[in-house]
Amino acid sequence: MVVVVFHRILPGSRFSQITRLLSTKAASISGSKVEVLGREYTGDHMTNVTSHLLSHIGRDLHLQPYHPLRHVAQRVTQHMYCQYVSPRGNPLFSVHSQLHPVVTTHQNFDSLLIPKDHISRKKSDNFYINETHLLRAHTSAHQSELIKMGFDNFLVIGDVYRRDSIDASHYPVFHQLEGVRLCTLKELYGTHQNMDAYHLFENGERTEHHQGVHTAEAARRMEVELKGCLLGLATSLFGRDTEVRWVDAYFPFTHPSWELEVQINGEWVELLGCGIMEQEILANAGVQDKIGWAFGLGLERWAMKLYGIPDIRLFWSTDSGFLSQFRFDDSATPASYKPVSKYNPCINDISFWLPKDQKYESADFYDLVRSVGGSLVEQVSLVDSFTSPKKQLTSHCYRIVYRHMERVLTQEEVNEVHRRIEQKAASTLQVSIR
Ligand code: PHE
Repeated sequence: MVVVVFHRILPGSRFSQITRLLSTKAASISGSKVEVLGREYTGDHMTNVTSHLLSHIGRDLHLQPYHPLRHVAQRVTQHMYCQYVSPRGNPLFSVHSQLHPVVTTHQNFDSLLIPKDHISRKKSDNFYINETHLLRAHTSAHQSELIKMGFDNFLVIGDVYRRDSIDASHYPVFHQLEGVRLCTLKELYGTHQNMDAYHLFENGERTEHHQGVHTAEAARRMEVELKGCLLGLATSLFGRDTEVRWVDAYFPFTHPSWELEVQINGEWVELLGCGIMEQEILANAGVQDKIGWAFGLGLERWAMKLYGIPDIRLFWSTDSGFLSQFRFDDSATPASYKPVSKYNPCINDISFWLPKDQKYESADFYDLVRSVGGSLVEQVSLVDSFTSPKKQLTSHCYRIVYRHMERVLTQEEVNEVHRRIEQKAASTLQVSIR
């Protein structure tokens, strides 16, 4: 299979994407100075980030075109867009996917009512920049600030950081998607003749079903809406026939709280946490007249179950054998992971001048590579393009990744195929090999 990748190429630039990736460091630590995405912090006794961990910052897997995590994020976003539409037909939810990963301990814990002595604050479980800042441990860290900014319906998508063992299902960096929705009385009940009979709030007792400030009826309506939305999401991704169940849960920032589990290959898998937001969080953010729900899900977990990806470390792979399996434009395309060849890829570049007076299309070259290289070719990508003003000619450089599923390819046999591709390109596309 030949897969075609388009890199963003600066006009006239001779630097490939790879060179640029390697030369920019999004985050670093030297002495007591910690720099993360253009912001500088001073380390102290709490600092426990390492150079290796910081090297993950800026990869933004959830934003990478064709990455499986981006496909899942896209599908969840699409679902929310369809579920909640304004009277004018626009999506109600805004998406925040590029928020800075360094947050204050106030954002990550206090704003969410996490007690000062709660175990989740432990240095051994988090990556602290210093006493007051850490790499966010969950996307919930942004709830309060976005509510303060006036957002009522929003999604937060981003990388989150937790100190953990590394194995097939744990990695210190993963990605979460958070959803928050605040409703007024009208939004929850619609408009009725006798609106005086409906209330969001009362001065009552906190029970296992609702907070003291919420009427049982309002809390119940929110619960039904939230669960309906999330069940719809799970069945739209995992299929109508998937077994699902709600499990009571506890989070300091929601009450009541639930987890949604689905049965996959006979095993119950926790897919997300959610609940009715603690009213105190809304009040602290300046919201008096609304009730809210929130959910948070781990994109890796969803992608692993959806595509059958066996190891969480694969998401960080830059190997085209992995990435090329997800190279489709419609995120809803079904895909199932196939083990990547354990044999090394052979990478050969090919550069040529495009014909001067004749139309040239990259797609023709891709077809040619496919016809000559067959299943030996894993990927072809345009890595460089520039125009020589003197010659008045444009040059293209393509990188071809050769790899066999079942055996080692020798350099000689790759060279032979590569030479045949060059010959055929010269004779049929009128390019001149450089
Ligand atoms: N932040 C929680 C977690 O990381 C998930 C969650 C989000 C739960 C929103 C409830 C509401 O586990």
